[in-house]
Amino acid sequence: MKTLIVYSTLGGASKKSAEILAENIKDSSIADIKKEVPDLNGIDAIIIGGGVYAAHIGRKLKKFVKKNLNKLVTIPHALFVCCADPDFMKFIKSNFPRRLVETAISAEGFGFEFVPERAGKFNFIFGSMLKTYQKNNMDKPSLTEERIKAVAEKFNRD
Ligand SMILES: Cc1cc2nc3c(=O)[nH]c(=O)nc-3n(C[C@H](O)[C@H](O)[C@H](O)COP(=O)(O)O)c2cc1C
Repeated sequence: MKTLIVYSTLGGASKKSAEILAENIKDSSIADIKKEVPDLNGIDAIIIGGGVYAAHIGRKLKKFVKKNLNKLVTIPHALFVCCADPDFMKFIKSNFPRRLVETAISAEGFGFEFVPERAGKFNFIFGSMLKTYQKNNMDKPSLTEERIKAVAEKFNRD
């Protein structure tokens, strides 16, 4: 079963999530929606996800989903977001079409991570968020790798 992982990222957390998924799913490949138009030909399953900014995932990712919705609902699919808010489900519901959410094998929040050097124009925001965490002696945010691997596991059955 060929699985495609399509992601959108600004800060790198979703890219890292996609890479962990790919490492743990047999016969999988990755597509960065900002760099390529993913080819769905020959794809048996798909995982779609991205980082949340002001409650929204990337525009290109939404567009890709909208354009391919009829095909996407017919194959095994999972959705994920990377966000700071523990209530990730509200972002899944508000950013992905209901039909896709309701038929998904899983819909997950993978947490978030600050990778300031990857954040480009958002670098200063990520940097100051990180300082706030350090000042308040809070644990540095990190992706929940167990959740990512649990999703990957679902795509290895069959
Ligand atoms: C400018 C900015 C806006 C953000 N807005 C939200 C938000 O509305 N809700 C939330 O839960 N997290 C928010 N976050 C945290 C990001 O979702 C988090 O850093 C996530 O890892 C981003 O994914 P990415 O690294 O793949 O781009 C925001 C972060 C930044 C820098």
